Amino acid sequence: MDRYLCYVTLCLLGLGLLETNAFEVEIKDSSNTTCIYANLRINFTVEYETSNGTFKNVSFAAPDEVNTEGSSCGQSDVAPLLNVHFGNGNLWSLNFTKNDNEYRGSVLSFTYNASDSVLFPDAKEKGLVISTTNTSFFVPVPLNSSYKCLHDDTVTTPHVVQVYWNVTLKAYIDDSAIGKDFTCSADLPSTTQSPTTHSTTIPSTTTTPQPTTKPVDKPSVGNYTVLNGTETCLLASMGLQLNASLLVEGKNVWTALNIDPINTNSSGTCGNETALLRLTNGTTVVEFLFFIKEKNFHLQEVNVTLFNGSDFSSKTNLNLSLWEASLGNSYLCRKEQLITVSEDLYINTFDVRVQPFNLKNGTFGTASECHLDDDSILIPIIVGAALSGLIVIIVIAYLIGRRKTYAGYQTI
Ligand SMILES: *[C@@H]1O[C@H](CO)[C@@H](O)[C@H](O)[C@H]1NC(C)=O
Ligand SMILES: *[C@@H]1O[C@H](CO)[C@@H](O)[C@H](O)[C@H]1NC(C)=O
Ligand SMILES: *[C@@H]1O[C@H](CO)[C@@H](O)[C@H](O)[C@H]1NC(C)=O
Ligand SMILES: *[C@@H]1O[C@H](CO)[C@@H](O)[C@H](O)[C@H]1NC(C)=O
Ligand SMILES: *[C@@H]1O[C@H](CO)[C@@H](O)[C@H](O)[C@H]1NC(C)=O
Ligand SMILES: *[C@@H]1O[C@H](CO)[C@@H](O)[C@H](O)[C@H]1NC(C)=O
Ligand SMILES: *[C@@H]1O[C@H](CO)[C@@H](O)[C@H](O)[C@H]1NC(C)=O
Ligand SMILES: *[C@@H]1O[C@H](CO)[C@@H](O)[C@H](O)[C@H]1NC(C)=O
Ligand SMILES: *[C@@H]1O[C@H](CO)[C@@H](O)[C@H](O)[C@H]1NC(C)=O
Ligand SMILES: *[C@@H]1O[C@H](CO)[C@@H](O)[C@H](O)[C@H]1NC(C)=O
Ligand SMILES: *[C@@H]1O[C@H](CO)[C@@H](O)[C@H](O)[C@H]1NC(C)=O
Ligand SMILES: *[C@@H]1O[C@H](CO)[C@@H](O)[C@H](O)[C@H]1NC(C)=O
Repeated sequence: MDRYLCYVTLCLLGLGLLETNAFEVEIKDSSNTTCIYANLRINFTVEYETSNGTFKNVSFAAPDEVNTEGSSCGQSDVAPLLNVHFGNGNLWSLNFTKNDNEYRGSVLSFTYNASDSVLFPDAKEKGLVISTTNTSFFVPVPLNSSYKCLHDDTVTTPHVVQVYWNVTLKAYIDDSAIGKDFTCSADLPSTTQSPTTHSTTIPSTTTTPQPTTKPVDKPSVGNYTVLNGTETCLLASMGLQLNASLLVEGKNVWTALNIDPINTNSSGTCGNETALLRLTNGTTVVEFLFFIKEKNFHLQEVNVTLFNGSDFSSKTNLNLSLWEASLGNSYLCRKEQLITVSEDLYINTFDVRVQPFNLKNGTFGTASECHLDDDSILIPIIVGAALSGLIVIIVIAYLIGRRKTYAGYQTI
């Protein structure tokens, strides 16, 4: 959630700035063969201390006009280096590393000139400031492929935020210059699979990626029970799929995750007024809390916790009103339903049958079926509505007719 907000903020920041600036550079070796190609947009936000001790942010974009002095194609023992100089002494620089199959950025460094009186008029410390990171903004890319990413990507170092978008980047370009595009995950329409390579291009042309995606399967239905001593006091069967916005390669990606009943344990508590069903699947815990209101029960709270070592993050919705049925009955819904846990976490449920109170002999009571399941009821409703509409029209027509007739008699 925080990450999400942060991302949105940066996104807006990115979009709010000059959109048109992009630089395109090619680095060539001594025989005039291109070894590095880059075409991208970057916005920088730099936080600096002013002469009166307060901090201030300044944002600027890398311009179209840059020079690549000091860049090199490298040698067997020297990494290829891309230097991009712009403005008054600013330098964006990236070197590369590879193994037998992949290459990636090694160290990314950005040097800005705090002496520049336009960008940093009131900076306390003048001179060149270097910020360096080796958490590169692009992931390992297969050799001979161009990295492409239309979506924003953000690299944050202390005091400097760099936002990139519409990036095409290729290093270790072979003489043949024929390669594939490697599309970043944010540009792929679906979420769960690893990026695929496709469409053959030469580095300087752009083609729209057409990746194929595999939809997530429906989750299997699990049977879960809660015991009160030796007696079953809560019964549930359902298929569960979490849909979470996760940070993947620095971007928020919607990821669907099926809860596999085989690895899922159920536990919980049964009270007079509330009942809790807790499902534990590895590092994921999903809790459903049921309440009684008058003669009915309903699902009121859902809590999803993801554990990571001793660390955990929890998302909760305390204000639901779902899965309602009268006490002694079970709630049944065969169709897919959506539970909103938080802005960045949903649960898709399938084939739900649940009874948290008043079980008889540990079995489900009569099923109260959800509205969604009654497709058949919709047709009578529509027909009924149409018929009532017709009747109203006939009655109105009749009344108007009568009045006219009546008026006619009056004049005679
Ligand atoms: C490389 O290309 C430039 C112009 O594009 C030319 O001036 C130069 O002579 C070429 N060098 C070699 C070694 O071909
Ligand atoms: C510090 O300077 C900035 C402009 O350089 C100004 O906006 C800010 O109000 C100043 N703060 C104080 C406490 O003087
Ligand atoms: C500058 O921007 C960064 C990131 O957007 C933010 O965390 C920081 O608080 C900002 N600083 C000031 C002085 O506005
Ligand atoms: C930084 O800016 C100052 C002031 O404009 C300028 O004199 C200096 O040459 C710049 N530094 C570099 C490395 O360009
Ligand atoms: C990239 O440059 C940095 C210094 O800026 C250096 O420490 C690093 O080893 C270089 N990467 C490779 C793969 O040579
Ligand atoms: C890249 O291309 C070169 C020549 O075109 C080829 O020898 C090499 O095996 C390719 N590498 C990969 C990983 O495809
Ligand atoms: C991305 O960059 C390419 C090459 O500069 C440009 O032709 C294209 O219009 C850009 N696309 C977007 C969505 O900005
Ligand atoms: C997950 O949620 C996102 C955002 O609401 C939605 O676009 C996506 O289709 C959902 N995925 C699944 C499998 O429900
Ligand atoms: C729950 O109800 C039973 C019987 O109605 C009663 O004996 C018990 O004290 C109640 N428990 C609580 C915690 O209210
Ligand atoms: C959600 O579950 C976690 C782990 O069981 C727990 O620490 C947290 O307090 C619960 N949150 C709510 C609001 O119930
Ligand atoms: C826990 O999360 C951090 C990042 O938030 C990650 O680097 C680390 O590998 C995770 N640990 C486990 C055990 O998953
Ligand atoms: C409860 O179920 C068991 C077997 O499941 C059955 O033998 C028994 O007769 C049932 N009792 C009642 C009261 O329905």
